[in-house]
Amino acid sequence: MASYWVGTNWKMTKTISEGVQYTEQLKQIVSELNSDLNLFIIPSYTALVDIRKTIDNSAIKLGTQNMHWEDEGAFTGEISPKMLDEIGIDLVELGHSERRQYYNENDFDLNKKIFAALKYKIKPLLCIGESLTEKEYGLSEEILALQLKGCLKGITDIQSVNLIIAYEPIWAIGENGQEASATYVGNIHKFLRKTLIKMFPEEGVNIPILFGGSVNLENYLSYLEQDDVNGLFVGRCAWNIETFKRLLLGINQYIKNN
Ligand code: PGA
Repeated sequence: MASYWVGTNWKMTKTISEGVQYTEQLKQIVSELNSDLNLFIIPSYTALVDIRKTIDNSAIKLGTQNMHWEDEGAFTGEISPKMLDEIGIDLVELGHSERRQYYNENDFDLNKKIFAALKYKIKPLLCIGESLTEKEYGLSEEILALQLKGCLKGITDIQSVNLIIAYEPIWAIGENGQEASATYVGNIHKFLRKTLIKMFPEEGVNIPILFGGSVNLENYLSYLEQDDVNGLFVGRCAWNIETFKRLLLGINQYIKNN
C-alpha cells in the first residue's frame, strides 16, 4: 500500500476558535482512518499555538503558510523558523501562487526559506505552478522546471528526502479556477517526477508530489488515479469539516484498495 499525503491550507479563513473547533472534529475523523495517509492542516499564524495543543498526540501534522529565512532581525511583520520551531511545526508551505502574485515571492527567496526550514527539520512544502498564459504558450514544463531548479538549488540528494512538492496550476486555483483534466495533471506529474529524478538521482523517486487546484468530491479520484500523484492539496473543499470528512474517507478507501 503506497503512502499518500493530503492536506489543506486554510488561507485567511479561520479564527482561532473556528480553527480549534475544526481540529477537534478532524481528530475524530482521523481516528476512523486506517490507511497510510499523512494528513496535515495549515492554519493562520494566530491559531498555531492553540491548534498545536488541540492536536495533542493525534497524527495530524501542523503546517504554516509562510515564514522568513532568517532566525531573527529587523524584518517587521515577518515570522522566523526559530519562532515556528518553538511552537512545534511539521511543515511549511512555501511559494503558494497567491504569495508569488501578491507578495512578490520569488524562487531565489524561496530557496533561502527551504534551507532555513531544513535547518529546523521542518518539511518544506514547495508549491509550483504555471499561469494560464504560460500554459497556452506551451511553456508549462519549462516554467515548472525553472521553478524547481531555482527553489531547490544547492539541495543535496540526502536533503531532498524531506521535501514535498505541490503542483498547483494557477489557473485551476480558487473561485474562478478552471478544473484541470486528470490527463493533463498525470502528464505534468510524470514530467515533474522525471525532473526530480534528474536533480536527485537517489531520492527523487520518493519525493511526494501532490496535486492542488479546485480538488473536490467529484474529481479527487480522477487525480489520485494518475501515476506520480502522491496526494492532494485542498483548499475550499476542505474548509468545511463535513466535506473534508467525505473526501478523507473516500481517499482512505482508495488507498486501501490500491
Ligand atoms: P482550491 O485552492 O482547492 O480552493 O482551488 C487550492 C489552493 O490554493 O491550494
